[in-house]
Amino acid sequence: MVDPVIFDIGYLLSAALFITGIKKLGSPRTAPYGNQLGSAGMLLAVITTLVKMQVGNGIIGWELLVGGLVLGSIIGAWLAVKVEMTGMPELVAMFNGFGGAASALVALSEVLARIKTGEVPTDMLNLWAIWIAIGLSSLIGWITLTGSLVAMFKLKGGFTIPLTKKWVRFPTWGPPWLNFVKVGLLIASFAFVVMTVREPENALWVWALVGSSCLLGVLFVLPIGGADMPVVVSLLNSLSGVAAAFTGFVINNNVLIIAGSMVGAAGLVLTFIMCKAMNRQLIDVLFKSFGGSEKETVTRTKVGSDAEEVAMMCDGISTCIIVPGYGMAVSQCQHAVKEFADLMEARDVEVKYAIHPVAGRMPGHMNVLLAEANVPYEQLIEMDEINSEFAECDLAVVIGANDTTNPAARSGEGPLGGMPILDVDKARSIVIIKRSLSVGYAGVDNDLFFMDKTMMLFGDGKAMMSALNTAIKEY
Ligand code: TAP
Repeated sequence: MVDPVIFDIGYLLSAALFITGIKKLGSPRTAPYGNQLGSAGMLLAVITTLVKMQVGNGIIGWELLVGGLVLGSIIGAWLAVKVEMTGMPELVAMFNGFGGAASALVALSEVLARIKTGEVPTDMLNLWAIWIAIGLSSLIGWITLTGSLVAMFKLKGGFTIPLTKKWVRFPTWGPPWLNFVKVGLLIASFAFVVMTVREPENALWVWALVGSSCLLGVLFVLPIGGADMPVVVSLLNSLSGVAAAFTGFVINNNVLIIAGSMVGAAGLVLTFIMCKAMNRQLIDVLFKSFGGSEKETVTRTKVGSDAEEVAMMCDGISTCIIVPGYGMAVSQCQHAVKEFADLMEARDVEVKYAIHPVAGRMPGHMNVLLAEANVPYEQLIEMDEINSEFAECDLAVVIGANDTTNPAARSGEGPLGGMPILDVDKARSIVIIKRSLSVGYAGVDNDLFFMDKTMMLFGDGKAMMSALNTAIKEY
């Protein structure tokens, strides 16, 4: 007979590994080690749970567990190999949704099983505690699932209708009356939670809660404007943690409570960082539409430059700020960007990288890519710090960034209205590498491209960076 204290120790160790791991994630240098600690904690938690279930005459047999593990591992490995780097944000959004769904399904099966077997707590305190935890886990879990699925398709830009092959774009705004529907549904959902407690044997209230929560997730995310997606994705990440924490209460699992609370808290911190980056209040993101539904069509033209001209421009400068954006991720040109920086440094140019908090499609997207290319962390400078340096900068090289440099944000109007940007337009000269003059994620035309001091190097990021590096070497 195994002493049950062993399992508590296993969970305690996992929690300690999670906490130390997340602390180490606070600095880029220690982050890889933090990741390893977190993974080790998760492995220990899984092993402890598996052993505990078997020793304690677990509710499910080995066949189902092993089957689930094998199936999950195959799908995970297949996704890891198949998904392009540019598809990672959608994958992350989907994982958030699956986290929420897993919690909601555990809560659902627990409540239905208890109703079926008549194991409804008889004393009021217990009933309220367990049924409220089940209700909140369900409410938050289903909202996270459907909200994340909509977020995933919004990050993709839309979806194809299977038979007709018609591409449907998601709206980035909603009519004002939709807010009343959302608030009404939220109130109804809480009322259903209360009803599940008042009539604990009636499964109808549970299903009503599932329906209203699923609808709520869709309606909350559907109208959110393009540029505000970073806030939504981090909020959904936080909600998946909160749902897991409530599920921990439901099934009396300490490590789930701890890990869920940590994800919930970390996600909430990230949400507020994203709100600050976008200069938004969370409540405004959830209930106010910023800007219209259509992407602007660019009708202005600008003659492009070639790599040789830009190489000439790079000669004789003493400061250079590199501004990476989503296009760098698409073209995977981070190594060519690093080579460009090395070439400049070899010519005694001081090189820095300007990092906008929402550049790319994931929090920290640019940092991850540049770290992969071995760019020193000290050269990655956050927006607040670097903005004062643009006025003294000889050359700003923008690689696939658009919204994060768009001066239209300063007007306070439209989808980008009020979002702080990188002050690239203040640099003495500017080179922009992208394939065309087309708009960025938020769909707003960018005056930066048309300034006299701006040279456009049209083409794929990787091809253009390589051409530029060759031209610099030959110049
Ligand atoms: P964006 O505004 O999205 O612009 C990226 C630009 O990259 C596009 O205009 C595109 O122009 C260019 N591009 C695409 N493929 C390229 C390639 N192969 N080679 C060269 N250029 C290429 O980028 P940003 O400045 O990084 O801003 C990010 C936007 O995404 C913000 O609006 C942000 O709110 C939103 N967002 C961010 C997140 C997070 S968490 N970071 C999540 C969701 C949404 P061409 O087509 O002309 O090449």
